[in-house]
Amino acid sequence: MENNQPNRFFIQTFGCQMNERDSETIAGMLIERGYVPTNNKKDADIVLLNTCSVRENADQRFFGILGQLKKIKEERSSFIVGVCGCMMQQQHIIDTLKSKYPWVDLVFGTHNIHTFPQLIEGVLSERRKIVDVWEEAGEVVEGLPAKRLYPFKAFVNIMYGCNNFCTYCIVPYTRGRERSRRPEEVISEVKQLVASGVKEVTLLGQNVNSYGVSSHGSDYCAEEENGMDFAGLIYALNEVEGLERIRFMTSHPKDLSDGLIQAYKDCDKLCNHIHLPVQSGSTNLLKKMNRKYTKEHYLLLIEKLRKSVPDIAITTDIIVGFPGETEEDFLETLDLVQTVQYDSAFTFLYSIRKGTPAAEYEDQIPEEIKHERFNRLVELLNDITAKINKTYEGTVQKVLVEGTSKTDKTTYTGRTDSLKVVNFKGNEEQIGTIVNVKITEGKTFSLTGEVV
Ligand code: 5AD
Ligand code: SF4
Repeated sequence: MENNQPNRFFIQTFGCQMNERDSETIAGMLIERGYVPTNNKKDADIVLLNTCSVRENADQRFFGILGQLKKIKEERSSFIVGVCGCMMQQQHIIDTLKSKYPWVDLVFGTHNIHTFPQLIEGVLSERRKIVDVWEEAGEVVEGLPAKRLYPFKAFVNIMYGCNNFCTYCIVPYTRGRERSRRPEEVISEVKQLVASGVKEVTLLGQNVNSYGVSSHGSDYCAEEENGMDFAGLIYALNEVEGLERIRFMTSHPKDLSDGLIQAYKDCDKLCNHIHLPVQSGSTNLLKKMNRKYTKEHYLLLIEKLRKSVPDIAITTDIIVGFPGETEEDFLETLDLVQTVQYDSAFTFLYSIRKGTPAAEYEDQIPEEIKHERFNRLVELLNDITAKINKTYEGTVQKVLVEGTSKTDKTTYTGRTDSLKVVNFKGNEEQIGTIVNVKITEGKTFSLTGEVV
């Protein structure tokens, strides 16, 4: 501590909600050590970058920010720079850090976040550089602290890792094999969160539908223990008093069970939204991607979901320009998008990830074709979203109020059950509560309404 000021930390998180959740744990550990968060890197005593390796542009941004941090370090030698997350699980990144960024003080990976207190202690007390990246995950570690981003909604990990090895994806290499948390741990965490004011939980896993399926060492295995699967977990959480909303991310179409579809009908707290990444509408490409379903199977799932829950909002992820994608393959994707009528979608240009099978494919797609297809896809998706959002006009939606808009402090913003953003004139007391909002206008990226 300098000038009796507590030491300050800044964590910058890239990528998915898993990383957001990991950053909450790291922040919790720093707060336990007496550190306080700051919003400004320049004021911080410790800056940590929690990285993502899913696409290449995140790598470039990361190295750019490291370059800027070097300047702060040159001005202030006590300044500590730490890096963690998925990128650190790749040897070529560690090699680059060692050769080109030797002034980075601490490097750790996705499998040893729980050792962060000892690592940072080592850096601070011995003033030495530490690189500690575990190649494999150990057992699931429970009971770590967390500095939650919001008091009224929370991410809850239910499983870690991925066994699917989609040929474009780096995640199975950076996050390791699937490991599920024990249901009683998840339920008890959710109960504690609710007791502290949380209304909405989002259950996190790369593929929540295989919760409890694969066991790793002594981790939870539903079959061996005759325990609950993912749908079972939803039913159990639906009974938690005081909890209002349950969401989950992400589910793989190949494992979407009838039990889960039924849970939408039976569990009033399960939000009427599903994020079901399709990646492509071409069965040929889906095979090359190792997705293990066909276009027809995916469409059948959508049909079943809509039959069971007619007003369910459906969102997805789509990759454009996967190696070998022909115009015909791409037209299959447009056709699928038109058939499904997605509420919204995350669209990605295929990005080569070193170490994945698709990186070695020779039929890579030229950038200009990728961009041209991407623009056509986004145009179609936006038209559909705008059309669906228009159908909300005149309806009354339950909105969990999250805060004020960044640009106008009298406009409040929140989300419907179906995950749509709603803007309305509100007041501070409404933050963290669920209010009824009558929708007056449905736009492409949000809805506008009035509290009723
Ligand atoms: N290139 C482009 N998009 C990718 N995704 C994963 N790997 C890649 C890649 N190499 C996308 C997928 C996934 C989402 C999280 O990121 O659509 O569902
Ligand atoms: Fe990546 Fe596929 Fe696993 Fe999702 S399911 S994390 S896309 S390998």
